[in-house]
Amino acid sequence: MGKNFKEEVLSRRTFAIISHPDAGKTTLTEKLLLFGGAIRDAGTVKAKKTGKFATSDWMEIEKQRGISVTSSVMQFDYDGFRVNILDTPGHQDFSEDTYRTLMAVDSAVMIIDSAKGIEEQTLKLFKVCRMRGIPIFTFINKLDRQGKSPLELLAELEEVLGIESYPMNWPIGMGKEFLGIYDRFNKRVEQFRVSDEDRFIPISNEGEIPDGHPLTSSGLYEQTLDEILLLNEAGNEFSVEKVAAGSLTPVFFGSALTNFGVQTFLESYLKFAPAPIARNSSIGEIDPLGDQFSGFVFKIQANMNPAHRDRIAFVRICSGKFERGMTVNVPRLAKQIKLSQSTSFMAEERNTVDEAVSGDIIGLYDTGTYQIGDTLTTGKDNFQFEKLPQFTPELYVRVSAKNVMKQKSFYKGIQQLVQEGAIQLYKTIKTDDYLLGAVGQLQFEVFEHRMRNEYNSEVLMERMGSKIARWIEGDTIDENLSSSRSLLVKDRYGHYVFLFENDFALRWFQEKNPNVKLYNPMDQH
Ligand code: G4P
Repeated sequence: MGKNFKEEVLSRRTFAIISHPDAGKTTLTEKLLLFGGAIRDAGTVKAKKTGKFATSDWMEIEKQRGISVTSSVMQFDYDGFRVNILDTPGHQDFSEDTYRTLMAVDSAVMIIDSAKGIEEQTLKLFKVCRMRGIPIFTFINKLDRQGKSPLELLAELEEVLGIESYPMNWPIGMGKEFLGIYDRFNKRVEQFRVSDEDRFIPISNEGEIPDGHPLTSSGLYEQTLDEILLLNEAGNEFSVEKVAAGSLTPVFFGSALTNFGVQTFLESYLKFAPAPIARNSSIGEIDPLGDQFSGFVFKIQANMNPAHRDRIAFVRICSGKFERGMTVNVPRLAKQIKLSQSTSFMAEERNTVDEAVSGDIIGLYDTGTYQIGDTLTTGKDNFQFEKLPQFTPELYVRVSAKNVMKQKSFYKGIQQLVQEGAIQLYKTIKTDDYLLGAVGQLQFEVFEHRMRNEYNSEVLMERMGSKIARWIEGDTIDENLSSSRSLLVKDRYGHYVFLFENDFALRWFQEKNPNVKLYNPMDQH
């Protein structure tokens, strides 16, 4: 490493892209990796996504789904920065890991399809970012297609998400009539599909491009100027502090597919996105520039190789420097562990990592040692990082052992997988049935697979569909309030939870039982 430790840490930018499937996350990621020289050809990330790449030793589900650990974390260098992009899988691959990944980043990039606006999954992920107050940068994509008007999209950001926005640039037309973007920040107009030498036109102090330029005769350009005037007068002011606090999002318009506006986005993002931030722990904030190594496990990906029971524990480094072969404390286990097998993540291959610093993600081969949320440290103080939040499951199944003679392995497997953080466990009140809760279907599939492969236990899972879970304040409740539409269960800590069939059942219950105070832990942060 040419830089000293402090410079290394300050050059890190670690973020996740949050979006609804199809908004363009893969396309944008690929363009960013191309800029960073981490991949040579467009199509590399895409091919992995559709499973065209050799994935010979991945776990079966991963093969079928084309999920691969190489695309879980992607790293590239650009303009003196080292960028770590953490993947947040969507669709049927959505899981608690998707949420937990957001615990390991310092900022997020939100991609919005200009025709669709804010969609369901974006909203869910946004709320988790908001809960942590992490800075969010918005890329409004697919400007080469006809979409909603830019003003309408901004209004949606403010109304649906409740976040202030500051457009860094503004489109001139869209769809077939997309002419380019007016870059408020860099004071230039960038023309769409115009050769490199004519691509940028400087904007004068008065906010105009030179008279006589062909664009000035376009009604669309005139309209953009009017809208910019409106933004200057009535829009939000740019504030670095608000961006850092996650209460104002810089907004960029562009088209990932045609690679338009991506470089400008990347450069501005790198400028304003935070370097690794301090993390809360049982002994106060841990400074990323501190020289004691520390980190926490935010994700465990199981059975990379079906021949072994190994998994990879993903660790976010929060301070100090990781060196292969170092020995760390894991306070939960009151044990020292030598970190000899570790991997870093580049776009095209897994490399053994010898050194990494705050902000980086390392993968540790794990044979069942780690749990999600574990702290690793070399410090004398046995501190623990703040607990990762529990995310409220939305999908539930009733689970039992297929073979009643094998109850022991069934209970052992469930206990360990629940402890590890792979899935959430609930029990019904009178019958003590086991229910599992997850935020995405994939978690059930991984659970079933791991029970079979790691604990030799075939399970029966009866779908209960989606439920709205609400915890109750206090420890006492009339258990007779439980019904099929508002099922009362206990979580693994013994706290009461109602599983409501739908929104209607929830509201009905609240009207009938105003004394029962219900809450969603995800709204409490
Ligand atoms: P995702 O990872 O968020 O799910 O989205 P992805 O990048 O896979 O993009 C979803 C679809 O949207 C793809 O088309 C992709 O080519 C298209 N797309 C992404 N960015 C843009 C853009 O700026 N403009 C336009 N017009 N389209 C864009 P597809 O037909 O589903 O896939 P493919 O056959 O092109 O791979």
